[in-house]
Amino acid sequence: MKRLEGKSALITGAARGIGKGFAAAYLREGATVAIGDINLDAAEAAAKELGEGAYSVHLDVTQQDSIDAAIASVVGNAGRLDILINNAALFDAAETVDITRASYDNLYAVNVAGTLFTMQAAAKQMIAQGHGGKIINMASQAGRRGESLVLVYCSTKAAVISMTQSAGLNLIKHGINVNAIAPGVVDGEHWQYVDAKFAKLEGKAPGQKKAEVAAGVPAGRFATPDDLTGMAVFLASKESDYILSQTYNVDGGQWMS
Ligand SMILES: NC(=O)c1ccc[n+]([C@@H]2O[C@H](COP(=O)([O-])OP(=O)(O)OC[C@H]3O[C@@H](n4cnc5c(N)ncnc54)[C@H](O)[C@@H]3O)[C@@H](O)[C@H]2O)c1
Repeated sequence: MKRLEGKSALITGAARGIGKGFAAAYLREGATVAIGDINLDAAEAAAKELGEGAYSVHLDVTQQDSIDAAIASVVGNAGRLDILINNAALFDAAETVDITRASYDNLYAVNVAGTLFTMQAAAKQMIAQGHGGKIINMASQAGRRGESLVLVYCSTKAAVISMTQSAGLNLIKHGINVNAIAPGVVDGEHWQYVDAKFAKLEGKAPGQKKAEVAAGVPAGRFATPDDLTGMAVFLASKESDYILSQTYNVDGGQWMS
């Protein structure tokens, strides 16, 4: 028996990377999956590639109208919403003295406000349906500890861990489980961007930061999105009904908490 048979999921920022990997895993487990992304062309391409059960939804998590329309679109397509993964996020890095207001505003709008208000809209829909639901927020090892050049991003992910704790405690009375996943380093386009940022900030050759980081992971390598899908399926399934407000490290042994 597939573990998410008949379930309807919305994954934000799922046009590529980890979110797309989650979508593939949920489809394999029998769910229908809305690929929500600000990049609609990429979301459409991803949905087409993923095949039956996947469909694209335009979603900008910084805009309340867009969040509400995306939830309505999921309900229109699948009749209900059972699972939300708040996966969309932005990254930036800078010396503390060089952090700009624009960078701060952008990251907080997507990573913090976007996560909060998409979670809120999904919770309202799940409460109206009356059958509970599962909400998974994407945190990061960056939310467990500050990093010298990553103040803003780290603080947004610490906020995600905290919001997961409070929302989980508040929403369990409706049968809604809120938990988070804290990945370590996951290969993909995101890390190409991170590597290029560090190359500039630390005077490293392209690929050098990535190689250094990989060497420091106890498991000896970057994760692939597939390394995270087991936890994402578990937290969306019935097996996790008694679990709430937790953030699970899926990071090759980087962090212990
Ligand atoms: N890649 C890693 O090493 C890593 C490590 C720890 C945590 N994470 C977290 O995992 C999640 C996914 O990471 P990834 O590497 O796949 O990221 P990614 O950058 O590859 O993908 C992010 C997606 O979000 C979309 N997006 C951006 N702004 C949006 C908005 N306003 N509304 C809707 N969609 C928007 C982008 O178009 C993109 O498709 C993020 O929350 C990230 O912080 C990633």
